[in-house]
Amino acid sequence: MAAKRTDTAGQGKTLPRHIAIIMDGNGRWATRRGLPRTAGHKAGAETFRRIATYCKDLGVEYLTVYAFSTENWKRSAEEVGAIMSLLGRYLREAVDTMAKDRIRLRFFGDMAPIAPELQALAHQTDAISESLSPGDFQANICLNYGGRDEILRAARRFAADCAAGRRAPEELDEAAFSALLDSAGIPDPELIIRPSGEERLSNFLLWQCAYSEFYFTDVLWPDFDEAELDRAIAAYQGRDRRFGGVKK
Ligand code: FPP
Repeated sequence: MAAKRTDTAGQGKTLPRHIAIIMDGNGRWATRRGLPRTAGHKAGAETFRRIATYCKDLGVEYLTVYAFSTENWKRSAEEVGAIMSLLGRYLREAVDTMAKDRIRLRFFGDMAPIAPELQALAHQTDAISESLSPGDFQANICLNYGGRDEILRAARRFAADCAAGRRAPEELDEAAFSALLDSAGIPDPELIIRPSGEERLSNFLLWQCAYSEFYFTDVLWPDFDEAELDRAIAAYQGRDRRFGGVKK
């Protein structure tokens, strides 16, 4: 196992356990180079591989990335197909390498409309992830994911359990609701990063972001590198997190 370089970005300060990233700017990166948008997604998938490896080496426990939102179906069939095929390629590679690299994968989102071949690959990576240790690094890929949709799916499940007499409304508190979300069992992200100059959440981790620190940068996702992640972590480490309390 690689030595945990917890001091790389912040001289021994606390490293976030969970970093979440909106991988934005792929299209603009490609257009600026006179390339089709799909070339930007291909470069973005490479950046994901690189940043996931770096997070793992640093000792970050969870990396969650926004790969395809519930709204991204509005894009051209060509672009949607290209993103799905990049995901398929990544998962096929992961099936061969994740046990050796000790990387667990999990999907957030409604997988029902996803192509059966991709769903089958996701089942394979789920099974491999289960065979790994809970302490191993985990990448969460948000696919057909929307924060509102995630909350609605959880609320429907709870309502159905109440209607069937399995649960009672009074049982529902924050912990019980968190346990119904796609992110069940995973700590909320301490740090959410959005590259590409946009400063909005775009339906990402709406429940989980309650006390997240946000980091925005103009760098486009395909150009995002280890030094950028170090800068984001250093910015996080400089924040005063009070969680609604006052400084002691
Ligand atoms: C946002 O940039 C990016 C996406 C909607 C797709 C992200 C997908 C990948 C990086 C590929 C597959 C992922 C993995 C995990 C292997 P944009 O297209 O909205 O960029 P723009 O704002 O510049 O147009």
